[in-house]
Amino acid sequence: MLVLSKPAIEQYSDIRNCMPSTLCSGIPLIDLSKPDSGHLIVKACEEFGFFKVINHGVPMEFITNLEAKAVRFFSLPLSEKEKAGPPAPLGYGNKRIGLNGDSGWVEYLLFTTNPDSSSQSFLSVFGENQEKFRSALNDYVSAVRKMGCEILEQMADGLKLQPRNVFSKLLMDKQSDSFFRLNHYPPCPELQALTDTNMIGFGEHTDPQIISVLRSNNTSGLQISLRDGSWISVPPDQNSFFINVGDSLQVMTNGRFQSVRHRVLANSMKSRVSMIYFGGPPLSEKIAPLPSLMKGERSLYKEFTWFEYKKSAFNSSLADNRLVNFERIIAS
Ligand code: OGA
Ligand code: NI
Repeated sequence: MLVLSKPAIEQYSDIRNCMPSTLCSGIPLIDLSKPDSGHLIVKACEEFGFFKVINHGVPMEFITNLEAKAVRFFSLPLSEKEKAGPPAPLGYGNKRIGLNGDSGWVEYLLFTTNPDSSSQSFLSVFGENQEKFRSALNDYVSAVRKMGCEILEQMADGLKLQPRNVFSKLLMDKQSDSFFRLNHYPPCPELQALTDTNMIGFGEHTDPQIISVLRSNNTSGLQISLRDGSWISVPPDQNSFFINVGDSLQVMTNGRFQSVRHRVLANSMKSRVSMIYFGGPPLSEKIAPLPSLMKGERSLYKEFTWFEYKKSAFNSSLADNRLVNFERIIAS
């Protein structure tokens, strides 16, 4: 069984001691039913680039329905699942992540969230259940996008930005380049024999988009990196969502928020199933620090379009910092 190493547990209680009011097991906690959470969201994004959301308003039925369909898909024989792959970039993938040699103890399905995209022909692998799957996916993604937008609007309030849809409009845009991913981490029984050994499910990385909205079943594995480079485990909670700051939001806030490094460790006993909505801008959107957040500071980044970022990221490995190509060298 995977257990936290002692130093990680110690770090945990350190964090709890530092900030008792907003933390739940070391992770900032946002109650979305409270309309004035903006300043707490901003604080969480500044300190962690990550937080947990409760009272999120996403119907439980949408979550359990899509999870059940995902579990059914991942329990099919490999030869069946492979009919939906390889992910180029959408569809079924197994162990290989991206095009540049990364791999992990994971299998996944990758979708765009654009409902009229014709590139999802791999969904025919669901046979006569295809329409039911699409509808479960749509229900879930629409509800999670709505919640993500509520978070981004409260965040804008917390940053005193106007209009308050300055971030959320990018996710709501018909051309929004957003993705959705179902990940399955099968149990890794070999791990049991090897104490003190971690097996990577999904290697460390930051998410490229604006925010990612993650929900998983009750199996642990997700870890986030703190500003000092240490890792803490995120206790799973199937009734809540977890939000990651992505690279684009880091740029739009001129580095005030930092995209969070995270990874998943495999579990020897239980399957982990996670579903992640990656809310991104349209491909033509210019990404740059918002002038109203600069307050006389210099921009840390050169302006780029989301398309240019993706083109530049194409040859990168999972763990790379994909913003380096866009950082300004500031002469001192
Ligand atoms: C991702 C990711 C975490 C998980 O897909 O980008 O970080 O729990 N996944 O699957
Ligand atoms: Ni991620």
